[in-house]
Amino acid sequence: AARPRVLSGIQPTADSFQIGNYVGAIRQWVELQSTHETFYSIVDLHAITVEHDPEVLRRRTRVAAAQLLALGIDPQRSTLFVQSQVPAHTQLSWVLECLTGFGEASRMTQFKDKSAKGGVDRSSVGLFTYPILQAADILAYQANLVPVGEDQRQHLELSRNLAQRFNSRFGRTLTVPEPYILKETAKIYDLTQPTAKMSKSAPAGSLDLLADLKVSTKKIRSAVTDTGRDIVFDPEGKPGVSNLLTLLSIFDGRPVGELVDGYAGRGYGDLKKDLAEAFAAFVEPVQAAVAEYLTDPAQLDLILAKGAERARAVADATVSTVYEKVGF
Ligand code: ADP
Ligand code: NA
Repeated sequence: AARPRVLSGIQPTADSFQIGNYVGAIRQWVELQSTHETFYSIVDLHAITVEHDPEVLRRRTRVAAAQLLALGIDPQRSTLFVQSQVPAHTQLSWVLECLTGFGEASRMTQFKDKSAKGGVDRSSVGLFTYPILQAADILAYQANLVPVGEDQRQHLELSRNLAQRFNSRFGRTLTVPEPYILKETAKIYDLTQPTAKMSKSAPAGSLDLLADLKVSTKKIRSAVTDTGRDIVFDPEGKPGVSNLLTLLSIFDGRPVGELVDGYAGRGYGDLKKDLAEAFAAFVEPVQAAVAEYLTDPAQLDLILAKGAERARAVADATVSTVYEKVGF
């Protein structure tokens, strides 16, 4: 039987992924390659919904690709591609925009959050229609499953509604995607403020994949911990220490419970030292592989061009059918 098809994307909006991106997304992308048919996209169209610099975007798109490859996305097993190289995304998006109610789009809470600073009036229309482009990203591939975190649930619901609406108006055409709930989705918290999610947009408390290891070691050493001295896993009462334990468990491979037993009678300094070492051991080979990919941008671009070609074959077929059904 055909493997269920998965689609996921990541924005090239920083010079490095932070470790939460790896733990919460990319780690699962790598695993899904052996059980699913996987399409992974670097969503550069989404990255221009806010003001950007063209050269920076171009660089970040390549760096994102290099990181995905270094972390284990295998271009033989996955279709890895850059969104702007597949015109079907925007072609389908227009049709879906015409099926979306203005009120329906207005209810997307992420637009409200992201536009909060400059205000709605100063936000681009692209930021407003972002979830509809995201629906096109998914529906163009007839994806069965979409790995989603809590923050993306509303957008996936819109994708499902649009697929169902298209199908009931024009006849069965689009696969209605299901959320794929990631197993044991560890959420990683900001090192300086362990109740907030670690994010690219808050660099002070993030652990970045491509940062100088001295910088990362320093960030780990000065991570906010909690009152008391005992090393226990208690995300409510001791969010700082618990976050460090979660991270150590991921890089060290041992379950949190076993780690906690080993720290009986020892202090936060020991935990931080061990985490800095485990993090370095994980990151060093990844950084070396990224550097290698970036020394040969032509080869990297070729990998992405081949991915885009495979992606276009699938997405173009969907757009042809969709256009035919709507009367083009
Ligand atoms: P960022 O906040 O760094 O910009 P994105 O919003 O681009 O991250 O998210 C990219 C992917 O990484 C999403 O699947 C998201 O759920 C995951 N992710 C981001 N930050 C974290 C985190 N702190 N813990 C777990 N997963 C995360
Ligand atoms: Na973000």
